[in-house]
Amino acid sequence: MSASREAEEPILEIVGGQPLSGRVSVSGAKNSALVLLAATVLCSGECRLRNVPSLVDVVRMGQVLESLGLKTRCLGDVWEIDARHLNRAEAPYELVSQLRASFFAIGALLARMGEARFPLPGGCAIGARPVELHVRGLQAMGADVRIDGGIVFASIRGKSRLQGARIYLDYPSVGATETLMMAAALAEGETTIENAAREPEIVDLANFCNAMGAKIRGAGTDTVTIEGVPQLHSTDYSVMPDRIEAGTFLVAAAATQSDLLVGPVLPDSVVATLAKLEAIGLRTDVDAGNYIRVRPGAALMATDIETLPFPGFPTDMQAQFMALLTLCEGSSAVTETVFENRLRHVAELNRMGANIRVKDRVAIVKGVPFLSGAPVTASDLRAGAALVVAGLAARGKTSIRGLHHLDRGYENIEAKLRGIGANVQRINSSAETALPLGAS
Ligand code: EPZ
Repeated sequence: MSASREAEEPILEIVGGQPLSGRVSVSGAKNSALVLLAATVLCSGECRLRNVPSLVDVVRMGQVLESLGLKTRCLGDVWEIDARHLNRAEAPYELVSQLRASFFAIGALLARMGEARFPLPGGCAIGARPVELHVRGLQAMGADVRIDGGIVFASIRGKSRLQGARIYLDYPSVGATETLMMAAALAEGETTIENAAREPEIVDLANFCNAMGAKIRGAGTDTVTIEGVPQLHSTDYSVMPDRIEAGTFLVAAAATQSDLLVGPVLPDSVVATLAKLEAIGLRTDVDAGNYIRVRPGAALMATDIETLPFPGFPTDMQAQFMALLTLCEGSSAVTETVFENRLRHVAELNRMGANIRVKDRVAIVKGVPFLSGAPVTASDLRAGAALVVAGLAARGKTSIRGLHHLDRGYENIEAKLRGIGANVQRINSSAETALPLGAS
């Protein structure tokens, strides 16, 4: 976003330093909703998806589906998608370039249409984000895939359907696992994906596809087996809760010494985050309704974090947890092993009084007694979330710019924060006046 446009962008103003309280509702998972929407391309009928979060990225995915000939209708958190009239095999650059996750639809499109043309998704703030694992897997299933002029051209050579194959992923890539599961769902024969990603969103995708008649086994383990079927039928499915949004609110509660209820969330999807919250001295309980209660402990003690593929500590929680670690007694080492450039929030946290040094992919965080509010700018989605956590804990006012990043992944964040007692408002940077709730 250009400097002039960023200057006009609204600002999130937080006056921090007081505890939060009550309960906050967790929305449907962004990283599941996006891939489930992509998977509707596989369906020969109409699908209904419930608990879909109202996010900029979700709207963009809907536009990509419409560009392929699908009909979409959004009623609150319910999306109705009619995939019967899929009639284009090419997704437009201007849409895919804004939402790299739309690339995951290439497997489904290829399986349905026999060909697919997708712009190569660019890198982003956190890394180069290559897609060779997606491409190699499709080639193993009998697709001709070439990249020319920034466009990925894929077609099924000589056969009417993709062919089942045994695929080994050099890295348990979430997107590659999802792309290949969707492609294999309509292939001829059986596909095995080894060293597959095990994230809960993979399980949600398998459950959704199986609800449409697919035959996917082993999702959530490192070996996923897909027996191809000729076509998939309509279904009505509810998206899993967002484990990263839930984790973000839990970390915000910890940083503000709050007693907070967060949910619903699948407890197994947040084990690593809960383990680390307990490691620094907090108490967490899960109730029967899948709400998690976090309560203050005696003192916040430093702990080390290393991001890893699931079930390891999630990279999408690294920035938020680092904001919390800035207030923990002692020295914490935060190692980011998943993305090569995901420590850009360090400079902004240091501007708020944190004491963090970075060497390669390791940040050494020395705890400080308090943070001080300051004007800061989000460099990417989860860096923005980290600045919200820091702003809630800091003394004084924090003004966060770069809200277009935050709005991609957090639904109605200021309404949710106000609902638990935070002093937060979204103001129009030029007019310096408060915008009505939900305005953007
Ligand atoms: C998904 O991205 C998520 N996005 C990311 O969430 C998340 O951080 C990531 O998984 C890891 O959990 C969505 O689900 C829409 P990867 P994805 O393929 O699939 C390398 C957020 O904040 N790689 O598992 O793109 C890649 O460069 C976002 O919500 C290859 O080298 O992640 C990275 O270093 C950010 N070649 C690592 O694997 C490939 O072909 C993990 O990437 C594919 C990936």
